[in-house]
Amino acid sequence: MAESIRILMCPPDHYDVDYVINPWMEGNIHKSSSARAVEQWQKLHHILKDLAVVDLVNPQKGWPDMVFTANAGLVLGDNVVLSRFFHEERQGEEPYFKKWFEDNGFTVYELDEDLPFEGAGDALLDREGRWLWAGYGFRSELDSHPYLAKWLDIEVLSLRLIDERFYHLDTCFCPLTEGYLLYYPGAFDSYSNHLIERRVPAEKRIAIEEADAVNFACNAVNVERTVVMNKASDRLKHKLESVGFEIIETPLTEFLKAGGAAKCLTLRITEPVLEYVHANSPVETRTIHMEGHLLDAGIMNKALDLVVENGGSFKVLNFNLGIERQSTSVADVRISAPSYQVLEEISRQLIELGAVTPPQEVCDVETETVTKAGVAPDDFYVSTIYPTEVRVNGQWVRVRQQRMDAAIVVSETDTGITASCKILRDLAVDDRVVVGIEGIRTVRKTESRETQQRSSQEFSFMGAGVSSERRVELVVEQIAWELRQIRDRGGKVVVTAGPVVIHTGGAQHLSSLIRDGYVQGLLGGNAIAVHDIEQALMGTSLGVDMQKGVPVRGGHRHHLKVINTIRRCGSIARAVERGILSKGVMYECVNNNVPFCLAGSIRDDGPLPDTEMDLIKAQAEYARLLEGTDMILMLSTMLHSIGVGNMTPAGVKMVCVDINPAVVTKLSDRGSIESVGIVTDVGLFLSLLVNQLEKLTSPYQIA
Ligand code: ARG
Repeated sequence: MAESIRILMCPPDHYDVDYVINPWMEGNIHKSSSARAVEQWQKLHHILKDLAVVDLVNPQKGWPDMVFTANAGLVLGDNVVLSRFFHEERQGEEPYFKKWFEDNGFTVYELDEDLPFEGAGDALLDREGRWLWAGYGFRSELDSHPYLAKWLDIEVLSLRLIDERFYHLDTCFCPLTEGYLLYYPGAFDSYSNHLIERRVPAEKRIAIEEADAVNFACNAVNVERTVVMNKASDRLKHKLESVGFEIIETPLTEFLKAGGAAKCLTLRITEPVLEYVHANSPVETRTIHMEGHLLDAGIMNKALDLVVENGGSFKVLNFNLGIERQSTSVADVRISAPSYQVLEEISRQLIELGAVTPPQEVCDVETETVTKAGVAPDDFYVSTIYPTEVRVNGQWVRVRQQRMDAAIVVSETDTGITASCKILRDLAVDDRVVVGIEGIRTVRKTESRETQQRSSQEFSFMGAGVSSERRVELVVEQIAWELRQIRDRGGKVVVTAGPVVIHTGGAQHLSSLIRDGYVQGLLGGNAIAVHDIEQALMGTSLGVDMQKGVPVRGGHRHHLKVINTIRRCGSIARAVERGILSKGVMYECVNNNVPFCLAGSIRDDGPLPDTEMDLIKAQAEYARLLEGTDMILMLSTMLHSIGVGNMTPAGVKMVCVDINPAVVTKLSDRGSIESVGIVTDVGLFLSLLVNQLEKLTSPYQIA
């Protein structure tokens, strides 16, 4: 027996499942047999007495979970950090454990009352004593970890738990002698898995399967080469034996009903301190400031959810709720994350939501210069669709050419400082690219109740995103009204259209929109033009007679004939000039001087002479035609619409029509109320739209 090792246990006199605070307890209230629990506990006690000295703490009536001494606190040397239980149901155990530690000569450290930490259930020492693994996500708060580091003078590695069945670190993670590690990877987020893999070499990692994990195989007591657990599969036994461990199985099924097993029932109270090990906690914190209709617009929820979903934690330092309907709220929130990398990711997303650094902490953007053309520095800030400002020489500068997925380039000349979005391939050597997260803010229009209502009058279904059930007519009325407004004030509408517009009989309607001045640019691929011209010249679309709706014999060749005809002319415009093409969408574009760009793809037949097969050029041309657009009508083309969405800043209205709800959802989900999704047949939509426009009387016409 290793005299030097001491373990604390608590007899199960008052043990029962009295409440539900973890998924294992569900359906098990008062379902455990106390006789069997006593028997199982005694067996474990007996086994452990051969391996170590077992101390006992007095069980207390009314605190059934006190048997789980792992949760009493975390011991290192003579120091102990007392647990602060997350659930009220267990908080009453704290004074009893505290007293035991004090009576036994420990120095007791206590966390703030609102900072939960559940002791050795959530904090496990590397068995070589090199560092402390600390869990968070369900019971213990990430913000407790820096205190562990400070008080116990040890490096803390934070691991995030994501499967509620494994709510305590010791339910899925068990450091073993000589640096081995028994663990269930599925219980951790990917960042934590990487951390584990970086610290523990592959040959020392024993990853177990779910079937063993749910038998609490990781909830094992390890003393030197012996591992005591509830149950292990043959595979796991062989694995552990092959690296020199002896396994003792002892059934603990009665305790599993409360969500605990061997390790939970014990607390190792002799944990030697290593001289060379010192405090370190990679937990990083940062304060952010938010202002606006934080509650009305749901920004506060979104921000706090995003922090937690990304593995961070928060503390609201100050929240000033706007009292009047129109007044805005202000919040200061401290964000913490297990590493700088995670904090950076969270910060980027918060910036996107409009969060800013508090005034006293604001600093200039960091930039790095491009050393290889077309390649950004590693840590470059990826732009979003939202209006962005960067701080250069103490001055906020609005970023130009706002679009998503670009880098931000800053330049200072005699005439002033500019910042603009540049896509990767356009980056030139010596361009100064914004990196990191400092000195960047996005300007989110704060939506008050009032403006939310106003915009919902314009597009009542906008906030709701996609709608297939609501009456399409109603939506069309609103879009028609808006289109008329834009036209009458000399605004700009760009259409992206797929060939389905032609197949569904929409050509005549789109043609009339162009003729009547509602369209200022057309973007699509080879196919929309081919089938439009096919219909104009031969009356079919992809070989289908557009009058009768039936395939025409030999019709599948029609589109090639048409391509050939246009190729002979040299361009669509020339075909119009020569009178060969005299109707349809492309004809109207040429005739009404509406610029168009056809972007090629791998599946194009021909292509038409106008189709731009150099995609870099096509993207540039799309971007040029989209400049200053007020509204984009996206008509049944996922490819071209997504392409366009990537280039468009927030604030441009988008109407996306497709028969496939998935396409509509994908496109209208830009996190802004400006996008509208309509699930319907595009030919039908266009016909309703034209109809509605005809009904509208322009105020100018009345005069
Ligand atoms: N019912 C107890 C709880 O939910 C079980 C604790 C198990 N202890 C442990 N270290 N995993 O808190």
